[in-house]
Amino acid sequence: MKVTVVGAGAVGASCAEYIAIKDFASEVVLVDIKEGFAEGKAMDLMQTSSLNGFDTQITGVTNDYSKTANSDVAVITSGIARKPGMTREELLGINAGIVKSVVASLLQHSPNAIIIVVSNPMDTMAYLVHQSTNIPKNRIIGMGGALDSARFKYRLAEALGCPTSDVEGMVIGGHSDKGMVPLIEKASRNSVNVSEFLDADRMSQIVEDTKVGGATLTGLLGTSAWYAPGAAVSELVKAIALDSKKMFPCSALLAGEYGLSDLSIGVPCILGKNGIEQIVEVSLSEAEKAKMAESAQGVKATNALLNA
Ligand code: 2OP
Repeated sequence: MKVTVVGAGAVGASCAEYIAIKDFASEVVLVDIKEGFAEGKAMDLMQTSSLNGFDTQITGVTNDYSKTANSDVAVITSGIARKPGMTREELLGINAGIVKSVVASLLQHSPNAIIIVVSNPMDTMAYLVHQSTNIPKNRIIGMGGALDSARFKYRLAEALGCPTSDVEGMVIGGHSDKGMVPLIEKASRNSVNVSEFLDADRMSQIVEDTKVGGATLTGLLGTSAWYAPGAAVSELVKAIALDSKKMFPCSALLAGEYGLSDLSIGVPCILGKNGIEQIVEVSLSEAEKAKMAESAQGVKATNALLNA
């Protein structure tokens, strides 16, 4: 499998690193607009191959999309990142132009690629890719829910005093501080609902901490996070590469699912060699349905700014 990662900043480089370390792809091409930057990151990463034991070939190019030709998957991380105090939505104006031109360049050389959108505001950027191309909807995947769910599981494990491997939890809805819907009522420790271990206040705190997971890191780091975003992307790409049919919450274009349409928002999706192979409609409580509807309104309000 050939994977292109556009943007060799911290998030893009982390995607390339985790994809390579997991050793399921034959080739990763890193692209950046800054002269020599992707080449440097690729060389540095390749010099870890004997240490980390992977055979994936990583190359870097400055804006030369011909080198990305025939990619099976392309990950778009390009654009400006959040600074402390900024919301993901504030990045819209600049990132929309960047994402649009990147996807056009990618498709010129890889017309059949599955596109994974990471750039923020992610749900709106994924919607923009749907709007500005004629790619079938199964081939456009917004990465947010896999990351937000990982942050949710981290907070659950912290509260339960257990390893994250003991917990299950999923975050659906928009990838934004207000829009995330952590499904706390369904979260479990080894199949036992977490409400058996945690009181209502602690559960509300976990939900709140999860929703501002990215903002908390931006405050600490001065820019947006990269390790967990990169790891989350690598898991999506791996599910496609191995045709594993694993379920992840991804931003998918909806046409009536969850009572929503004409937007891309986080819902459980089965991933395989064709990208999003199925959108899974799980039953939601009345409270979860209300939060999902509110989240969708927020995403649609941001989408409306695309044409403003
Ligand atoms: C995050 O939540 C960058 O949106 C990404 O860290």
